[in-house]
Amino acid sequence: GFVNTRKMFEVAMKEGFAVPAYNFNNMEQLQAIVSACLESQSPVILQVSKGAREYADQTLLQYMGKGAVEMMRRMAKEKGLGEIPIALHLDHGDSYELCVSCIESGFSSVMIDGSHLSYEENVALTKKVVEYAHKYDVTVEGELGVLAGVEDEVSAEHHVYTDPDQVEDFVKKTGVDSLAIAIGTSHGAYKFKPGQKPEIRLDILKEIERRIPGFPIVLHGSSSVPQDAVETINKYGGQLKDSIGIPEEQLRAAARSAVCKINIDSDGRLVMTAKIREIFATKPAEFDPRKYLGPARDALKKMYMEKNEKVLGSAGKA
Ligand code: G3H
Ligand code: 13P
Ligand code: NA
Ligand code: ZN
Repeated sequence: GFVNTRKMFEVAMKEGFAVPAYNFNNMEQLQAIVSACLESQSPVILQVSKGAREYADQTLLQYMGKGAVEMMRRMAKEKGLGEIPIALHLDHGDSYELCVSCIESGFSSVMIDGSHLSYEENVALTKKVVEYAHKYDVTVEGELGVLAGVEDEVSAEHHVYTDPDQVEDFVKKTGVDSLAIAIGTSHGAYKFKPGQKPEIRLDILKEIERRIPGFPIVLHGSSSVPQDAVETINKYGGQLKDSIGIPEEQLRAAARSAVCKINIDSDGRLVMTAKIREIFATKPAEFDPRKYLGPARDALKKMYMEKNEKVLGSAGKA
C-alpha cells in the first residue's frame, strides 16, 4: 500500500538491498515504474522533482501518484501477486514552503536539499521541515555535500564530498530519516570525463557508515547510462557524446551497504528517447502517440525490472 519510507529502509538495511527511487513526469513513465516494481515484487519510491511537479501540474500529479497506488492494487489482484509498498516522494525540495505544499497534497516523503547552504543554514532549514513533516508521519531526506553537475537550476563545477565528521551532528540536530551524500555520483548523462576512471568513493561511504551505523543513506545521481541506449540514440540522429554513468558493480556494492535508496532518472530518459527515436526513424508513417509511447513504456518497464533484480537487489523484497 501507500507508505512513507521508514519501514522500507528498515527492511533494506536489514536485508542488504536498496529501494529504487525512480523519477517520473508523465503517465507512461509512472505506469512503467509501477508495473515493473509490482512484477518484480520490489518496494518503490515514486520520485517527483520540483520541475516534474510544474510540468505535470501539481494537482494532476497528486492524483497520478494516488492513482498509481490504486492501479497497483488492481493489477496485483488480477495477476495474483502481493501488493508492494509505494512511497510518493518530493525530490530535491528547495524550500520549506514547497515541502509543506507537497505534504498538504498527500506526499508520504520529502527531500529538503539544503546542500548548497552553509552547514548551519542547512541544519536549521532541514530541522524546520522535519518538525512539520513528522506531525503528518511524512519522512524527510536531507543532504550533506554537493554533487557536481546540474541539480535543477543550481550547478556545481566540482564534487564537494560529504565530510564524515559532520554526519553524526547533522543527523542528531535535524532529526532526518535518511541522508543523501556526495561520494562522486552526479546528475545527468555525463558523470565522468573521457579517460577518467568511473569510480565512486566507496571508502568515504564506509567511513560515513562507521559514524552513523544503521542510519539510511541515499545515493543521488546513480544512473549507469546504458551504452546500448546511447548508441541507439546516436544511430537514429541523436548527438550524445561521451555519455558515461556509474558502473553497475559499484552500485551493487553500495546497495549491499547502508545505502537504502538509490535515485535513477537519466537512465529512464535515455531508454525512452532511444525507443522513440528508433520508431520515428524505422516507422516514419506512424503518428499515433500510442505507437511510440507504448513501446517506449515497454522498454522502460524492462529496464526497471533489470535494475531491481541485478543492481538494487530489491526484487522479491516487497
Ligand atoms: O535531480 C535531478 C532529477 O533527475 C530531476 O531532474 O529537475 O530535470 O526533473 P529535473
Ligand atoms: P541520475 O541523473 O543519475 O539519474 O540521478 C537522478 C537523481 O539523483 C534524482 O534525484
Ligand atoms: Na542497502
Ligand atoms: Zn538527485
